[in-house]
This record gives sequence, structure tokens and C-alpha cells, in this order.
Amino acid sequence: MPHFLDIHTTDPAQLRGILDQAAAMKAARAGLPKGTRDPETPFEGQMVALVFEKPSTRTRVSFDVGVRQLGGETLVLSGSEMQLGHGETIADTARVLSRYVDLIMLRTFQESTLLELAEHASVPVINGLTDRTHPCQIMADILTYEEHRGPIAGKRVVWAGDGNNVCASFLHAAGQFGFDMTFTGPEPLDPEAEFVAAARAAGSDIRIERDPFKAVAGADLVVTDTWVSMHDPASTRERRHNQLRPYQVNDALMAAAGDQAVFMHCLPAHREEEVTSSVMDGPQSVIFDEAENRLHAQKAVMRWCLGV
Ligand code: CP
Ligand code: NVA
Repeated sequence: MPHFLDIHTTDPAQLRGILDQAAAMKAARAGLPKGTRDPETPFEGQMVALVFEKPSTRTRVSFDVGVRQLGGETLVLSGSEMQLGHGETIADTARVLSRYVDLIMLRTFQESTLLELAEHASVPVINGLTDRTHPCQIMADILTYEEHRGPIAGKRVVWAGDGNNVCASFLHAAGQFGFDMTFTGPEPLDPEAEFVAAARAAGSDIRIERDPFKAVAGADLVVTDTWVSMHDPASTRERRHNQLRPYQVNDALMAAAGDQAVFMHCLPAHREEEVTSSVMDGPQSVIFDEAENRLHAQKAVMRWCLGV
């Protein structure tokens, strides 16, 4: 079953094919009104369930619009309004949804929920973010980087801040797409050692550098994310802010990186916390192209899942 669960569990040639198709579909839509269908509508007659156990703006809207542009239909479901978490097993939910829909996208807390859904579904399942990873985001990020700067292979991505779920998927992508990565952040918020080791084993040069200014020197891409993710307890907010403040992406840090560096953030951003408005709205930022590319990348992911 061609589930899209993580970047490191998807074949690199398949990942590259998905990005090529995303770029081609984006080009084919140039100038078309947003509400119109694509020139090709391979999802006609297909029903896609988008299930959210956490809030979302980009993931929700980009998947919904993407399915419609491909000619399909969507059901956007909130986990709390379903029987999920009210006693029905994830396995039974998977079996039931598989009788109604052709594809399931799930945003959830524990990775085990996603894996259990995929194990028992007879239709493909897409990871729309868990506490551990966010693969769709990084597909969009690579598409965006390559639009602006060409092939990402051999480049260095610097992640500044919390070694969270989005950082994890970047590490997975480093191994699969052949780029290097530096993590700069406080030690208690390092990315999981398992992800660092896997990227190194796949041939990427992964560095941990506590000094953010040393870390960014010569970077091709500087990335950050919120200091408090949806799965982090609110009680950790103050501690996290204190730990992460030295890693704010601001004009001084981008100047230390150099003009070649682009800036990305998966959004939603907290302006003047992890990143200043001057960087978000500045000449090195590609954040809104990045947000747009969620649409194009995920349309290609969904086509790959359904084989159409
Ligand atoms: N980047 C991202 O996944 O945004 P949402 O939480 O709004 O979906
Ligand atoms: N790390 C963030 C990403 C949001 C898209 C979170 O999990 O809340």
C-alpha cells in the first residue's frame, strides 16, 4: 500500500518523482483561477478524508483545494467530533473509513496512531503531521528551495531553534536528497539522536553547533519553527522561551549567514519570537512561496499514493 508516512520510509527516486510532478503541475496551472480544476483531473470520482486531531490552516486548506483541483471530493473531519478517542479503536476506524473513501490524510498526536491507521486501512494514508514528523512540509520546502536556488543536493541547511517534528523530517530528507545539515539550539531541545544517526548513516554531514552565528556561516538555507509546538505542554513555554531566545533568526543572524541563504519557516510563525518580522518580510525570506508549495507538493504526493 503506497502510504506516505515519512520521508525516510519512501524511496528517494519516488520522492524525486513526486517533486518533479509537483513542479510540472504547478507550471501547468500558471494563470488559472484558484477555484478551477487542473488541466488533468485524475481524482474524478475519488473521495479523500482529511482528519485533524490538531488545529491547522495550511495543511487543511492546501489538501482540500488540492483534491478539488485534481477533480476529487473531500471530507474534512475533526478527530474530536469522530469516535476517535471515544473508545473505538484506531484499527476499526481505519477499516470503516476504508469502506467510504479512497485516501486518508491524518494529523494526529502520537505517531503510533498514524502507524496503526495505516496498518489497518485498505486505502493509502498520508501523514499530515504527528508529534514526531511532518513530511509533507519538507516536500514543499525542498520544492521551494529548488525553485529559488536549484538542486538541494550538496547544500547545507541550518536549523535554528527547537529540534522538533519539522526538524526531524528535514533530517530524514537530508539523507534521502543528499544535503547536509547543521542543528543549532540548546542541548535539551536537540533533535532525536536516532534521526541524526540515520541521516549520518545515509551519508549526510550532520553537525550540532551551539553557537548560532558559527552555525549559519555559509548556510544555503536557514530554517526555524515555533518555540512551542502543539504537542508541547503550555507549562514548558517560559522555560523554552528562555532556552531558545539566543537562537532567534534576526537580521544579525541572516547577515552572518550571507546573501546566498534563503529563509524558511513552515508557519504559523510567532513574529519577534523565533523570527523577526524584518527577516520574515525581508529579501531572503521565501515563506509564502513555501506555504503555496504545500498545495503543489501534496497534490503530487496524493497522485503518487493513488497511482494516478
Ligand atoms: N505548516 C503547517 O503545517 O501549517 P498548519 O498547522 O496551519 O497546517
Ligand atoms: N512544530 C509545529 C509545526 C506546526 C506546523 C507543531 O507541531 O506545532
